[in-house]
Formats: sequence, C-alpha cells, structure tokens
Amino acid sequence: MTPDQFRALGYKLIDWIADYRETVEERRVMSNEAPGAVRAKLPPSPPEEPESFDAILADFERIVVPGVTHWNHPRFFAYFPSNTTLSAVLGDLLASGLGAQCMSWQTSPAGTELEEVVMDWLRQMLGLPDLFRGAIQDTSSGATLVAMLCARERSTKDARLAGGLQSCPAPLVVYVSDQAHSSVDKAIALAGIGRDQVRTIETDERYAIRVDRLRARLEEDVRAGNKPCAIVATIGTTATTAVDPLEPLRELAQRYGAWLHVDAAMAGIAMIAPECRAHWSGIEGVDSITVDPHKWLGTGMHCTAYYVRDPAYLTRVMSTQPSYLRTAADDKVTNFRDWGIPLGRRFRALKLWCLLREQGTSGLLGRIRRDLANAQWLSAQVANEPGWEVVAPVLFQTVCVRHVPEGLRTDAEIDAHNQSWADRINEDGRAYLTSTVVNGRRIVRVSIGAEPTELEHVAQLWDSMRATVARRP
Ligand SMILES: Cc1ncc(COP(=O)(O)O)c(C=O)c1O
Repeated sequence: MTPDQFRALGYKLIDWIADYRETVEERRVMSNEAPGAVRAKLPPSPPEEPESFDAILADFERIVVPGVTHWNHPRFFAYFPSNTTLSAVLGDLLASGLGAQCMSWQTSPAGTELEEVVMDWLRQMLGLPDLFRGAIQDTSSGATLVAMLCARERSTKDARLAGGLQSCPAPLVVYVSDQAHSSVDKAIALAGIGRDQVRTIETDERYAIRVDRLRARLEEDVRAGNKPCAIVATIGTTATTAVDPLEPLRELAQRYGAWLHVDAAMAGIAMIAPECRAHWSGIEGVDSITVDPHKWLGTGMHCTAYYVRDPAYLTRVMSTQPSYLRTAADDKVTNFRDWGIPLGRRFRALKLWCLLREQGTSGLLGRIRRDLANAQWLSAQVANEPGWEVVAPVLFQTVCVRHVPEGLRTDAEIDAHNQSWADRINEDGRAYLTSTVVNGRRIVRVSIGAEPTELEHVAQLWDSMRATVARRP
C-alpha cells in the first residue's frame, strides 16, 4: 500500500469509525452470533493473491462487526467499563503509524520519556504520593504477576540468582481476600508459590477483608514455619467493588515483612475525584499498585499503570543485560524493558497522552462524577422498589442488585430467576449486564461507566429490568 492509497483509505476508515460511534446506540449491545458463525464465514486458508482493501472493509462489515459486542455502547453495563475514547483511538493510530518499538530509551527516546511524564501526570491525577514511579504494563493480570515475582524474590532474598524457589527452606504464603480477582490467584500460581500456599481470608458484611482473620492466619503461619510473602489488597473488588482497608494491611505487611500489592484495576480511576480518596488511606505504605486506564478512563486495551515505591528493586528483578541490548545511554536513562516481562514495547504512552490532554483533569473528573452519580441514582430506584434489593454498598459505579419476587421460595429458584431476567435483557440486545455469585447467591451487577452512558440510558435499563421481571417466562 502506498502512502497515497493509505491516505484515501484512512479517510474512509476514520469516517467509518465516526459513523459507528455516532450510531452505535442503534445496534444491539451483545453480539448474538452463534459459536463458530464468524469462523464459518472466513476462508480456511490464507489468500494466495493480494486483495483490495475495499474487499477487506466489506468483509469487515459483513463478517466481523456482527460478531462484536459493543463495549462503547451507552447501554453496556456488563463486567466493567472498558472505554476507548476517540482521542485515544487517534493516539493509538499515531503509535501504529510511527511503528516505533520502545523497548529501550535509545530505540525511541520519546517513547520512554513520554511514558515517564504521563505516568507521573496520572499519578498526580489519582492523588498518589510522589514516592511512586510508574510504567505501562499490558494488563492488571500482568502487573500483578510482576508484583508477585518481586514479592517472591524479596522474600527469598533473590533466590532466582541461585537455586530458585526450591532452594528455600520456608514455604512462602500469600494472603488475599475471598473477593480477590482470579488474576491474583493466577499470578501466585504462575510465580511458583502454589495454590496451596494462598490463604483466602474471609470478608465482612461490606465484602472487605477481615483484618482480624488475616492477623490470625499470619500468626499461625509464622508459628508453623511458613514465610509470609505478600498481601494483596483490592480497592474495588470485581463482584461488588468492595474496598480492603489499607492502613491495617500496611501495618501487618510491615510487621511480617510481606509485600503489599494493591489491585485497584477498575476502581482506582475513581481517585481522580478527591471525594473518593478516603479509599486510598494508607496507600503511601504499599509496595505496588495496579490501575487500569484501559478500563474506566478510556485509553483502550493494554494500558495498565503499574506504580512501585522501589523501581530499583523492580528493575533488579526484571532486567537482563545481554550485550546486544546494552547502549551507551543506559546509566543515564530509564529502560522500560527492565520494568516488566516483555522486551518489546508498543508506544502506548501516546494514547494516554492524547486522552489526558484532550479531556484534561476537569473533563475526566466530570465523567467520573457523572458515573458515580448515575450509580447512586439507580441504587436509590432499586432500593425504593418493592421486590428489589441492592445487595452491596455502592462505593463507585457498580450497583449489585437482586430481584426477589413473591411466590419464589427457594434460593435456587430465586437464583435462577435473577440469571433469567439478566439473560433475557442480554439476548434481546437492549442492554448488556452480567451476573455473579456473592455469598453463595446469584446477583446481577450493573456496571455503569461506558463513555456515552448518560442518566437516560441508566433509566432505560431500569425500565427494562422492571418490564422484564414483570414478564416472567
Ligand atoms: C479487580 C480486578 N483486578 C484485575 C482485573 C484484571 O484486569 P486485566 O484484564 O487488566 O488483567 C480485573 C478485571 O475485571 C478486576 O476487576
């Protein structure tokens, strides 16, 4: 493709994306393609001859788009918001257009220095103390794995440099709440610590970790000759957006020499609003934090902000220094290849930079506050409606609900009913929500915060919820 052909097709593509965003509300939210339907429309073998981009675009509309669930739809209320604002789309396009590989400072100085600056801008916007330094990781799952690897190495006094984990006499233990995200369990397992070494601590009536139980397990483990390696706190758990109290966790982590990692993947973005920052209380004493601009903030996927108090330790664990990667600038610059697992790095800071500048703190704050207010509005409607319950405190933008109609007696019947009304809304395409199990009961989560979601869309969902339960199948 020549630059001139690219120019013409690029205009067309930008038009397509602009039209798509303008009219996305007319589409059903969740794709209703059957399993295998997209694959069946694609040829099983690669094209022998070059094809025109117009043919590709036509197939994109015919084959790909029907198989897409629209995360940037105003009635997307499933999982968590994963916004890609149009300014970030343009930033990402610039990154692709430049095609720079930002593994080392020298391989694109702007890639490194822009990332340092935007990570620091974001740190300030989130009200995090100056002692933290950040790098972009692919996902929170990846960032938590990095945290667990660092925790393991600190607890074993850098065992990787000698006999590794199997040379350590005391088994390591990691503490998480029963509401921690599955990525935490996965990271602990992949760090070689082992699932049996995870202590899953009970939560209280607000779904926050029970500090008394955590303290008791720590004492028990030390008596038994185990070594506390890490505590993982969550600010905004996946099911109900509960908050673990950082102050007492920090004290325990210090007393037992454990790494304290904070998973604030989704809800950390709420800290742009100063009124939410009480949830950060104690944050200055943690070792690492993961927050995802690719969720609520709006950069599009693969933009996790990973902050650490001790970057020198992170780079000690992560760096490899083969001769072919060394450069004359190494002792004067940051080499982000040493801040995580992958060597190669896309220029992801560009999309975050474009987003932060185009919206400004005030624009982002306005959006976060709108979503927090919309969640409070929905929560009040649900709480005031007979037969409906709000089943967890609404601390951020997620409202966990349950409908308990008269006539249904057993927990199993009520669970099935709640799954059923959510499924019917999703199948109908009007909106998209997801359910989960909390305290053994099926509940439905309304996760507000897609960029185009206004109060009217939340009100439409609430109408749909009531109408759907009224028409029991
Ligand atoms: C609390 C929490 N942590 C971690 C994750 C995983 O995020 P990622 O997809 O960036 O790995 C999620 C995703 O839902 C989450 O809610």
